[in-house]
Amino acid sequence: MRKLLKSPVQIITVDTKGKNFKRGKDAANILPVNDHSIIIEDNIIKDIISNSSVKKYTFDQIINCEGYIVLPGLIECHTHTAFAGSRSNEFLMRLKGATYEQIAESGGGIISTVKAVRRSSFEELIRIIKPRIDLFISQGVTTLEIKSGYGLSYYDEIKLLQVINYFKKTLPIEIVPTFLGAHTYPPEYKNDHKKYLKIISDELLPFIIQNGLAEYIDAFCESSAFSAAEVDQIFTKAVKLGYKLRLHTEQFNNIGGLDVALKHNALSVDHLEVIKESDIQKLNDSETVAVLLPGVSFFLDYQFAPARQLIDNNAIVALSTDYNPGSSNIPNLHLIMSLAVLKMKMTAEEVISGVTINAAKALDISKRTGSIEINKQADFSLFKANDYSEIVYNIGQNLNEITIKNGEIIYKRNSE
Ligand code: NIG
Ligand code: FE
Repeated sequence: MRKLLKSPVQIITVDTKGKNFKRGKDAANILPVNDHSIIIEDNIIKDIISNSSVKKYTFDQIINCEGYIVLPGLIECHTHTAFAGSRSNEFLMRLKGATYEQIAESGGGIISTVKAVRRSSFEELIRIIKPRIDLFISQGVTTLEIKSGYGLSYYDEIKLLQVINYFKKTLPIEIVPTFLGAHTYPPEYKNDHKKYLKIISDELLPFIIQNGLAEYIDAFCESSAFSAAEVDQIFTKAVKLGYKLRLHTEQFNNIGGLDVALKHNALSVDHLEVIKESDIQKLNDSETVAVLLPGVSFFLDYQFAPARQLIDNNAIVALSTDYNPGSSNIPNLHLIMSLAVLKMKMTAEEVISGVTINAAKALDISKRTGSIEINKQADFSLFKANDYSEIVYNIGQNLNEITIKNGEIIYKRNSE
């Protein structure tokens, strides 16, 4: 089966010349190509040819891309999409002056979502979560990471991972499940950390990987959640079992999370709003990706991560929504892209690298997706625009009209 993406306004290749990430200054090189079309064969990018040579070939399907800019399918690499309930009451409390951490300490925060998830059945969770994934697909997202972390018991963490895996099997995009049992301590083990750590290490970690429910693990290293030593203990066990690691760290406090993540060669360190200036250079020759989440700073009215310094110091920077009910109730990756240029002073080009190739790198899948390079998966987002600057300029609007995954159109605006 040979297909053609014919005559787009421009192809934003984000070509890495086989390197599969863009570090520092290189993130600005998104390598646009004009007057070209893309050949897809067997769900793979076969070639990028000049429009004048299209007539030399025959095609089984031609997708007319006139009026569209073609980007790699967007990669949403950090979300907590699998939640139930609402925390609008906490949002109002914060507007009156309470902080995110104060709300968490008084029994709200993550724990209030945990209660809502524990009350929900598998079927109810499916019904609540499905439209959220559809919304991401409509934005051009072709790979979506979803964490557990709102069950926080053996039964409920597995239930959430089963829900995420149900979507992985049944939906046309790639869903990447991540085990986040170490999100915070559940009320029943608040005063017995050892017991909960044992449940994670001896029960959940082996069961989850042996049953193919997740091959990624994440944790929250914070004064209100897990200490660096506790994360170290969990990661040590996880690595032995074959997990790939991510870490929420330096969001509110510096308590050693960054060093633990780097010691274990984690795929990414996420948040970094309060990373110490002297720590920034630790990422300058590391392949650990800095995943920045400007929606959280916006939603919490809090400081932004130092994106400029990270990029200027040669880090690999990715962007994501961190979609969750407590600190970023923002299921809109395009809004995040605009926040990144406005509030973190990233360039439009760096932002595009941040939601494509570098986000793929954070998930360790950038060898096969995240850029438009020959032999990669035919994953694309098609934006109705004459210039890619329109994407960050049209704040919060969805210019993506067609989403293509493995060579198939999986979303078309206004189609049945
Ligand atoms: O990434 N920081 C911890 N976890 C989420 C927030 C989760 C919540 O508040 O429900 C985050 O910000
Ligand atoms: Fe998060």
